[in-house]
Amino acid sequence: MNLHVVILAAGKGTRMRSSLPKVLHKLADKALVQHVIETANSLNPESIVGVYGHGGNIVPETMDSFSLKWVEQTEQLGTGHAVDQAMSEISDGLVLVLYGDVPLISKETLKNLLDTVSESNTSIGLLTALFEDPSGYGRIVRDSKGLVQKIVEQKDASDEVKLIKEVNTGILCAPADLLKTWLSNLNNENAQGEYYLTDIFEMAVNDGKVVSTHTSSFNAEIEGVNNKFQLATLERQFQLREARKLMDAGVTLMDPNRIDIRGSLKVGSDCILDINTLFSGAVSIGDNVTVGANSIVKNSTIGSNVVIHPNSIIEDSHIGDECELGPFARIRPDTVLANKVKVGNFVEIKKSHVEDGSKINHLSYIGDTKMGSNVNVGAGTITCNYDGANKYVTEIGDNVFIGSDCQLIAPVSLENDSTIGAGSTITKNAPAGNLTLSRSKQITKSGWRRPEKKKSENK
Ligand code: UD1
Ligand code: CA
Repeated sequence: MNLHVVILAAGKGTRMRSSLPKVLHKLADKALVQHVIETANSLNPESIVGVYGHGGNIVPETMDSFSLKWVEQTEQLGTGHAVDQAMSEISDGLVLVLYGDVPLISKETLKNLLDTVSESNTSIGLLTALFEDPSGYGRIVRDSKGLVQKIVEQKDASDEVKLIKEVNTGILCAPADLLKTWLSNLNNENAQGEYYLTDIFEMAVNDGKVVSTHTSSFNAEIEGVNNKFQLATLERQFQLREARKLMDAGVTLMDPNRIDIRGSLKVGSDCILDINTLFSGAVSIGDNVTVGANSIVKNSTIGSNVVIHPNSIIEDSHIGDECELGPFARIRPDTVLANKVKVGNFVEIKKSHVEDGSKINHLSYIGDTKMGSNVNVGAGTITCNYDGANKYVTEIGDNVFIGSDCQLIAPVSLENDSTIGAGSTITKNAPAGNLTLSRSKQITKSGWRRPEKKKSENK
């Protein structure tokens, strides 16, 4: 049967205490509803219909890179009413209902749920969970044979029903035609005066259908976000799950509770990621790489056999094989380090290419620079790339040796094998193979004395 996914995302999220609609709050730097859309897409559905409400078009607009149909639920009259709005877009097939504020639901669990329907050829599937403390959730009421009879909301439940620990996750699947019929028969005569989606189960049973259930074994995947604390709690659960995947793939994490992945991270074999490392955007790391504590890597590729010492930041860059960076290195966007490059402490590199084997070991700024291979940049060297209005390029050939504390006033070129004397301010091209320096002559004044403090006379 064709699969259609409905994602409910109309709730305001009052307890988030924010002007942003709840489903646009971010988990791992991605809107809650985007997590759900991506998971839905992974099931290859025929269509996805989003139901939005509060905040006007901002939810559909923010998600416009995904091919979803959106319907507006102008008044939030209950989950049953919300799904009913979406049904105008669906004519046949199987409908899977998901929630924009339940971000961690996994493809595997959803597949298991869908399988219960197709395998047993029953007509309605329900995802349940077992909670030690089920308060707040709808309870699954089963008969003596264990068959689901109905779902009772907490607010409508008797003391006996409240003891049931199997809860409704809200996630279900049902054939579109039957679902339409049941939804049209809902009423709002209950404690909350809402059209409960959950009431369709009793209707299904009355129609002779069997409710087939799958029970999630990871409670966090069925939990919703209603406040900032729950958001942070699910963020930690998400991160722990990502950390677990990395460790299962053989990556060494010094502490799975102290790593953050906000994007897609690919890691090769025999890598070590130390504590408080943060990876954002698309990051790929080769084999045998160590990322030191407190380092941040964003939208970058890192080769193999690389050592990144603690407190380094790499953004929108490529780091080749056998490079060594940091501690306290800052690699800014559009930087390419070829192989065996060394970048030491308090070195900032921006929009520069550095070829094989070059070393920039201490306290330097290299910006808008093309640097050849086997260059040695002395401590405190600065490329002066900006005149206050325009930026200029510094070109440095192969085998150049730059003494400490030089300023290279761009545009300027240091040709192959040139040597720059320490303390030079270089304004003109340095010819190949020669020593170039700009330095005032050193003088010594013999007999000179340091000034002494004046002695006050009337004291
Ligand atoms: C619902 C279930 C409950 C289940 C729980 C799991 C019903 C009646 N109850 O309760 O059995 O245990 O979820 O979390 O379904 N929404 C809309 N439009 C509406 C109403 C809700 O889009 O008119 C969306 C909300 O934004 C939210 C979701 O549906 O994402 C759930 O709605 P909510 O009212 O929070 O249901 P619960 O009371 O949590
Ligand atoms: Ca809820």
